Amino acid sequence: MKNKTNFIYHNGLYWENKVEEIEQSIFKNKLSLQEVKTRKVGNEGPLHQLIEGDNLAGLHLLQKNGENFDLIYIDPPYNTGNKDFKYTDAYFNTEDEIRHSTWSSFMYKRLVIAQTLLSKNGAIFLAIDDAEQARLKLICDGIFGEQNFVANFIRKNKAGSGHDSKQVAVEFDYMLCYASNINTLVFSQETVDVENDIKYKFEDKFITRRGKYYLRDLDYKGSYSKTLDYEITAPNGTKMLSGGLFGKPNTWRWGKDKFEWGLTNDYIVFKETPKGWKVYIKQYQFVDNKDQKRVRQLPYRALIDFNNAKGSNELKDILKQDIFSYPKPTDLLQFVINLIPQKNTNILDFFAGSGTTLHATMLQNKKDGGKRSCTLITNNENRICEDVTYARNKAAIEGFENRRGKKVEGLEDNQLQYLKVQIKK
Ligand SMILES: C[S@@+](CC[C@H](N)C(=O)[O-])C[C@H]1O[C@@H](n2cnc3c(N)ncnc32)[C@H](O)[C@@H]1O
Repeated sequence: MKNKTNFIYHNGLYWENKVEEIEQSIFKNKLSLQEVKTRKVGNEGPLHQLIEGDNLAGLHLLQKNGENFDLIYIDPPYNTGNKDFKYTDAYFNTEDEIRHSTWSSFMYKRLVIAQTLLSKNGAIFLAIDDAEQARLKLICDGIFGEQNFVANFIRKNKAGSGHDSKQVAVEFDYMLCYASNINTLVFSQETVDVENDIKYKFEDKFITRRGKYYLRDLDYKGSYSKTLDYEITAPNGTKMLSGGLFGKPNTWRWGKDKFEWGLTNDYIVFKETPKGWKVYIKQYQFVDNKDQKRVRQLPYRALIDFNNAKGSNELKDILKQDIFSYPKPTDLLQFVINLIPQKNTNILDFFAGSGTTLHATMLQNKKDGGKRSCTLITNNENRICEDVTYARNKAAIEGFENRRGKKVEGLEDNQLQYLKVQIKK
């Protein structure tokens, strides 16, 4: 059948809609999922699924089954033109003028379905590099909504030399992140390590409960407020006003009542200097300025550092051969999984490759007692699904011996089901 050429206009981009063979089967309702029962692994714990097949078909079937995912991670072919990989990373020759068009058409169809699979508090993460980042950002802005853009993570993925760049060393790629709904998305935060922070250097009799402290000037250059500008009496009776440090107009950091509370509760320190009296607040490690226990937390940064070499070594350790280029490291995926605070999330990766996302899901469950489940979709080009994705995760569940002959315990409390996309004749 000859396909009529049509074009898609989307968010300022224009590309040729490349009709894929699989679309005919979707249209004619010829697809189903069939389990390969002999490949079932494990009997207990979260049930994970590996779907072998084209992900457009896989996504369509998940949609038809009414599935929902709290976290979607994808690492699609970057379209770098590299033909040495086990999977295709060149949708056209690098000289071809419409190579980006084909890639955009391919991605758009899949992401439109992915958007409908995202649960209402969910988020999607998309790995990419400079070859297609700009286009992917525009495509995603259109599909997920510009207002739902969370961040473009920048991942340092190499260490030191060995980079192949000519003018400058490019040692990073990206990870776009969109919320299903930015107003309801909550990410977990990083706990600040106050224990080893050397700026807390003083001790007092409250050390056990409050921890060590450092001193902060009570004199404060902020916007002027009359209630923060009052007289303080130093231990020798000297009267002090704010502005000694920064000049007038100035205020104290705390109001009068709070200051009185600080004096009573040993949060205030006076010091006599050659220039006169100074007054400080004690900032403790383990309590806040209301004497309440606190865990200091800050949002995670969008600048991350997870090395590709680690991913390759992890896979080689399991499969004993260098069979797949650039699997992502499990710690990157654990970082992503951990951003969603719930520990029973449904995770989807529809460009699964070596299946790092499932391996990382199981490792994270083991680490924090979670019950997350993971669905992978990947095609079987060059037998990747059978020989890499399945083999790797089966070994991860059952345990294996690494390249140095060390036994690595299995992640036994997990079940894996192998499903195939079937196309009716
Ligand atoms: C960049 S790799 C993903 C690597 C993965 N994140 C890992 O850590 O191993 C992309 C994978 O998607 C697969 N793929 C490409 N097009 C696909 C399609 N239409 N349907 C299913 N899988 C596809 C490729 O075969 C390849 O294994």
